[in-house]
Amino acid sequence: MKPTDLNGRVNGEADAVLTAAGLGVGFFAEDGRRLEVVGDVDLVLRAGRTTALVGESGCGKSITAAALGGLLPRGMALDRGEIRWADGAARGPGRGLTYVFQDPGECLDPVFTIGNQIRETLPPEERGRARERMEELLRTVGFEEPARVLASYPHQLSGGMQQRAMLAMALAGRPRVLVADEPTTALDVTVQAKILRLLADLQRAERLAVLLIAHNLGVVAEIADEVHVMYAGRIVESGPVDMLRQPRHPYVQGLLKALPRLDGSGRLEGIEGSVPPLGRRPAGCRFHPRCPLAREVCREKAPEMRACGEERAVACWACGEGGWA
Ligand SMILES: Nc1ncnc2c1ncn2[C@@H]1O[C@H](COP(=O)(O)OP(=O)(O)OP(=O)(O)O)[C@@H](O)[C@H]1O
Ligand SMILES: [Mg+2]
Repeated sequence: MKPTDLNGRVNGEADAVLTAAGLGVGFFAEDGRRLEVVGDVDLVLRAGRTTALVGESGCGKSITAAALGGLLPRGMALDRGEIRWADGAARGPGRGLTYVFQDPGECLDPVFTIGNQIRETLPPEERGRARERMEELLRTVGFEEPARVLASYPHQLSGGMQQRAMLAMALAGRPRVLVADEPTTALDVTVQAKILRLLADLQRAERLAVLLIAHNLGVVAEIADEVHVMYAGRIVESGPVDMLRQPRHPYVQGLLKALPRLDGSGRLEGIEGSVPPLGRRPAGCRFHPRCPLAREVCREKAPEMRACGEERAVACWACGEGGWA
């Protein structure tokens, strides 16, 4: 069974804004050989809900997010599966889907004022009342003096303010899906909490479908509705956020032992080893070399997603309906 079926069964398709089914991204080496970067990714993003994508560094979270908006790096292609929008329209970044990245310093242009940069992202029909709309956007992201912020250059703002300005830019195009890739990792902890609360409020107020990529499982547990955990390019466990209280997959259990913070170094307390690089992923279950439960079947055959209770799915031979094959 597929998590998309599972999600459909549990929540219906009513609020689905964007559905990704069986997504696969290939990296094409110079000799033309295809290396899978991510594969078999099923995601349903819903209006007014936050879906989290978690996993160790290098497991394919950002590439999955980039694939959704057509922003893959050179050499990579979305060559498996499909992306469906609820209204049937295919949309790229800046239209239905928008991104907020980790480092606002890299995305904001130092030579233009915030006002100039937000204006650029307004849809043409709103440029007539640009000033009014920009101030409204800045208020939405918590600025009490929007006029001053509009006239500021990025270096005149703190990191948290820059991130909020970025969020205002992301909202300017009235997106239906907001992808936040480690949106607060570069900020200090108190500012992080503020931005995340803001994101959660916006998601509710604007009925945004949010895809949140985060290392910090504490954050995810607090603001996400659904969680997908990735390992080496595949989703290994999916379900409502409560699943983090009692994960089934041995990898997810290991991740939780590493709470409160995964530092992205590729090391997990409680689980030896690290994520295998592209091109060196083992046969069978990709987690088997690190798995305390691994048996013969795990070395030979990759487990598919199986239902595990009413609302969850897990790709593991040791768990899910049927148990050991
Ligand atoms: N521009 C690129 N060119 C080549 N390979 C890349 C590129 N970006 C990512 N990769 C590779 O694709 C795989 C998935 O990377 P991705 O950036 O999606 O990981 P991630 O889960 O977002 O990790 P992190 O938590 O560190 O951000 C990794 O093996 C990575 O080395
Ligand atoms: Mg990333």
